[in-house]
Amino acid sequence: MLEKDFIPSSYTYDKEKGRIQYTAPSNIALVKYWGKKSNQIPANASVSLTLDECRTVTTVVYTKLAKDTTDFSFDLLFEGKPREDFKPKIETFFRRIENYLPFLRKYHFSIDTSNSFPHSSGIASSASGMAALALCLMDIEKQLAPEMEMDYFYKKASFLARLGSGSACRSIKGTIVQWGEHNEIKGSTNLYGIPYPYTVADVFKSYQDTILLVHKGQKSVSSTVGHDLMHGHPFAKNRFHQAHNNLIRLRDIFAEGNLDDFIEVVESEALTLHAMMMTSIPYFILMKPNTLSIIEKIWGFRKETGNHLCFTLDAGANVHLLYPDNEKNIVNQFIKDELIAYCENGQYICDRIGEGAKKL
Ligand code: PMV
Repeated sequence: MLEKDFIPSSYTYDKEKGRIQYTAPSNIALVKYWGKKSNQIPANASVSLTLDECRTVTTVVYTKLAKDTTDFSFDLLFEGKPREDFKPKIETFFRRIENYLPFLRKYHFSIDTSNSFPHSSGIASSASGMAALALCLMDIEKQLAPEMEMDYFYKKASFLARLGSGSACRSIKGTIVQWGEHNEIKGSTNLYGIPYPYTVADVFKSYQDTILLVHKGQKSVSSTVGHDLMHGHPFAKNRFHQAHNNLIRLRDIFAEGNLDDFIEVVESEALTLHAMMMTSIPYFILMKPNTLSIIEKIWGFRKETGNHLCFTLDAGANVHLLYPDNEKNIVNQFIKDELIAYCENGQYICDRIGEGAKKL
């Protein structure tokens, strides 16, 4: 598919008004996307686990305007309250996607969105939020063009979500999603996320992700700034090459269920992401002392027990604990005994691999 395939020529129907509701999950990257070209094209391919519990629910009520607007016409409620400060992000999103959804200037949209996870938890809501909104808008388009195939619907939803926030394109489908062109991964593209196209061993199908909320405040440096600092970064070329190779390694790891190799790739990816931040100019650190304490505890636990608990990190201080379902009891005990002490107000979220977004 090419970008131009997402521009509709005309619609079959006209609609006066309607109401749509979708829920979309967050996702956690195993091979990280860090660095982008213009138009939200990733500098390297990435792969993620779709989550289940951490979600956004978005309702869109749309009403036909008497005439097309020059500005987009919408209002926004976040967790039941108007949020003027969130509107510029939606405005930018609408501007980026209006070519692909020509009906955007014909309607007024009332957008009501809320998250299942605490707002200031440091968990990025842009992935689940943009995915849920993209799906609502696609649903409106499908009502105007009901002949649309569902395969096209989901690809275009992921394509639109990507234009809102890169990693959001991996929050439409489950359970493992690949985004970004890779010469050894069939069907891969920079334009949207695809369900992982190769065999995945059973052990990964019920993988657990417990998110330790280490620091709930605002990040000191945004992802947008971080991505940008990969331009001219002294290690960028090697980093993109490493991500490419890690995706090849993961293909065998997923197929064979080799957990030791999985741990090595996943933890190396997390630390490399943060190493890129620490070695850019200007340099910055998003991990906190407790992030490092947790990592050391995990390594000690693994050495002592031989279990397969490992960690990954987002662009922040929180720690995602990844482990197989059949090690849940011992890991949960370890979390309670040893790790909760490092979480802000003792807070953590028990999540797992999930099936993707749903219409409500
Ligand atoms: O989607 P963005 O622009 O917020 O970037 C996300 C970047 C990471 O979360 C750090 C990595 C990833 O692949 O999700």
